[in-house]
Amino acid sequence: MLNFWPFYIAQVWSTKLKGMRRVALFGAGEHSKWLLDLTAGFDGPEVIGLIDDRADRIPEFGGRRVVSPDDAGKLEFDAIVISSDAAESALWTRAKECFPAATIVRLYEGLPPGPYEKFSEVVPRIETIAGPAETVNLDTVVAFASDVEPKRKLVEVFGRLDPDPSIGRMVDGYRRAIDRFGSRWRYIDLWSLLYAYTVLARPARYLEIGTRRGHSLAAVCAASMQSGADSLEVVCCDRWIERYAGQANPGPEFVKEQMTRIGFEGAIRFLSGSSHELLPALFQDSGERFDLVTVDGDHSRQGALADLEDVVGRIRLGGMLAFDDINHPQHLYLHDVWKRVMEGRQDFETYANPRNATGIAAALRYR
Ligand SMILES: C[S@@+](CC[C@H](N)C(=O)[O-])C[C@H]1O[C@@H](n2cnc3c(N)ncnc32)[C@H](O)[C@@H]1O
Repeated sequence: MLNFWPFYIAQVWSTKLKGMRRVALFGAGEHSKWLLDLTAGFDGPEVIGLIDDRADRIPEFGGRRVVSPDDAGKLEFDAIVISSDAAESALWTRAKECFPAATIVRLYEGLPPGPYEKFSEVVPRIETIAGPAETVNLDTVVAFASDVEPKRKLVEVFGRLDPDPSIGRMVDGYRRAIDRFGSRWRYIDLWSLLYAYTVLARPARYLEIGTRRGHSLAAVCAASMQSGADSLEVVCCDRWIERYAGQANPGPEFVKEQMTRIGFEGAIRFLSGSSHELLPALFQDSGERFDLVTVDGDHSRQGALADLEDVVGRIRLGGMLAFDDINHPQHLYLHDVWKRVMEGRQDFETYANPRNATGIAAALRYR
């Protein structure tokens, strides 16, 4: 929700208090806390103290003196500002009673009685928008992922891993496409996307749902080492379904050994079991966030939807979510699942390419 109150108060402050140098707030409650923080950055009068009937219990507030109405003569002010949205009317009556000759300013005069929702996110100022060198946008990631360079690197990285026929076929395809199309070749898949994002954005925390024999993980780990990132912390969730894609799917020790083959020595935490039980448990910690997440585990409609919904709110600003197989002939519904999760979201830029191989989708959080 758009929080317009800071702009409203700024307007009132610069009009109703124009020309004044010193004001006192009437009421030392939550509203005054908010108002003091907000107006600290404003031009205009200084808040020199607060007036409150409970002054004996609150001698000081936000670094200012609090006095009772009887002691208000100790403060020198040009006007009194009623500081409440919920009880402005009652406080105004009380202030008028105590200070019949003073200038008393109401901030919310003419508006329906509060309280108003003032604590939602403040609309940032234009200067807070990150510049081009401070962000990695999805266009850049996709352009780099589509390029030949990541594929050359992946041929080398996958060549060091335990042989896997399905990956072998893909690597062979990379080689032949490079021979045939040279540097003009444009192609994107899960591995090149993860590689490109990691080189460009240097994620610190990676969550992978569906690791199998470690190929997507190797793409991330190799890119992280190449990018000179300080460290990469990895969480892998897999239920290690036997003979997945016709190959042995041995689990954590095998995957760790695969990463050793490419020289990766960072921390890998394994969550072995179903993502539908383990992710909700992981996210019981409400602060759990990742810079990069791959969803490539359960390929059923409901299962993929659940995984995406579990992780989409856990991506850090600038972080990326990758979703594989939106063009997989046995799972063509995955493209609809992706659209359903992303539709109407205002915080991600999205990319979906169902044309190359089994298809790939990505979303980068920019807000
Ligand atoms: C397509 S493979 C992952 C391939 C890997 N991302 C790569 O590119 O190298 C899918 C993996 O997800 C795992 N899986 C399937 N359903 C799962 C679930 N509900 N929870 C966790 N893992 C699951 C399988 O055991 C399998 O290892």
